[in-house]
Amino acid sequence: MDIVQQAEARAAPAGKPQLRGIHHLALVTDDMRKTLDFYVRILGMPLVHGLITPGKPGERTRSDGAGSHGRGVPPFAATPHFFIDMGGDSLLAFFEYPKGKVGPCDRDTIGATQHISFVCGPKRYREILERLKANGVEITAGPLITIPPAIHSFYFFDPNQTRLEVVSDLGGDEEDLQVIRSTTMNEPAMRSELKRISDDPVWIDEMIQHMPR
Ligand SMILES: [Fe+2]
Repeated sequence: MDIVQQAEARAAPAGKPQLRGIHHLALVTDDMRKTLDFYVRILGMPLVHGLITPGKPGERTRSDGAGSHGRGVPPFAATPHFFIDMGGDSLLAFFEYPKGKVGPCDRDTIGATQHISFVCGPKRYREILERLKANGVEITAGPLITIPPAIHSFYFFDPNQTRLEVVSDLGGDEEDLQVIRSTTMNEPAMRSELKRISDDPVWIDEMIQHMPR
């Protein structure tokens, strides 16, 4: 490989995403039924796929990476694993760990999922808010403007205490959501935000090159 080829192999092409987005987000629950009720019946995510991972119930799996799926597999064998359609051709997935075997997570730690934000059009934004309230789900913040002038959000928790957000551009279309276009700031605004976290002008220029084209 020459120097140009090496540089090309290290750096991704600028300004255009190389991945399409989420295939599945995999979260942990200790109550699959309650979790599916919440996401399928209240938030309206169709049920797509389900399986039980290999092994015998109660058995511990090997966490040393020796198994076919390598490091980071669930620590328990025979774990129920279900997939639901969260829209945008993407899936939300859950593993059901045995009750009492693991504690709750602290979402405010490094690498934790701080919250998950779902997007929809303005009409469904209002409908989902009403349906959550009708099912006794507490809205813990909002509805409020999160990105002026028209991007609104409200926040709540799922049965596993994962913090969720629903966001909508209330000035936008019901189906053509334009998430990136409605959120992308202009170059000077991005430059001044980057300056607040770094005083390296070369790095800032490089980051600006990677804004959407
Ligand atoms: Fe958010």
